[in-house]
Amino acid sequence: MTWAAGSLRIEPLGVSHDRQAFDCGVASLNRYLREQSSQDMRRAMVRVFVAVPVDQDARILGFFTLSAATITTVDLPPELARRLPRYPVPAALIGRLAVDQSVAGQGVGSLLLAAAVGKARLAAETVAMMAMVVDPIDEAARGFYAAFGFCSLLGLEQRMFLMLPCSGRPSS
Ligand SMILES: CC(C)(COP(=O)(O)OP(=O)(O)OC[C@H]1O[C@@H](n2cnc3c(N)ncnc32)[C@H](O)[C@@H]1OP(=O)(O)O)[C@@H](O)C(=O)NCCC(=O)NCCS
Repeated sequence: MTWAAGSLRIEPLGVSHDRQAFDCGVASLNRYLREQSSQDMRRAMVRVFVAVPVDQDARILGFFTLSAATITTVDLPPELARRLPRYPVPAALIGRLAVDQSVAGQGVGSLLLAAAVGKARLAAETVAMMAMVVDPIDEAARGFYAAFGFCSLLGLEQRMFLMLPCSGRPSS
């Protein structure tokens, strides 16, 4: 089975979502969703979004977090860095992204990642951001992000980036 965009909703984490039932197979990510995510949301440290089936409001298929970050230009490939200022450039960080094991390999991760990039692009129309960054938890996660075009940062090899399309040209 593959989940189509119309078969799930991506919405902010709320009290009605069953965080205890979520299991992505990585204890630290399960613990984060169960124990820390609400507090981080309340403190405006991150925004947490969950994917739920359209017909099961409480069931969490997957989640991701978004927050603000910066990239130091010396960590970017030289051909990109050459065109940018020397001070840190603004970015959106996908701090965590995970899918419940019961639906692994069914396209939910792709839909979550597409939603995260879409939200960052929308936000970038108001608060300038040039790129997305992620901190993959292991080699398998690196493979997942690389499949979507994310590249390693030179100085921070655990962190990967994807440039957002440049949409901020001033209108004449
Ligand atoms: C990584 C993870 C989010 C992928 O979610 P998923 O729903 O299983 O992924 P999808 O079904 O959407 O697969 C998306 C694509 O990525 C590919 N992919 C997934 N894992 C991959 C890997 N390790 N290496 C290369 N490609 C990978 C899939 O083959 C698929 O490509 P295809 O459509 O061409 O077949 C999920 O396995 C997970 O939650 N893992 C545990 C937590 C984790 O590692 N989170 C990420 C970093 S914090």
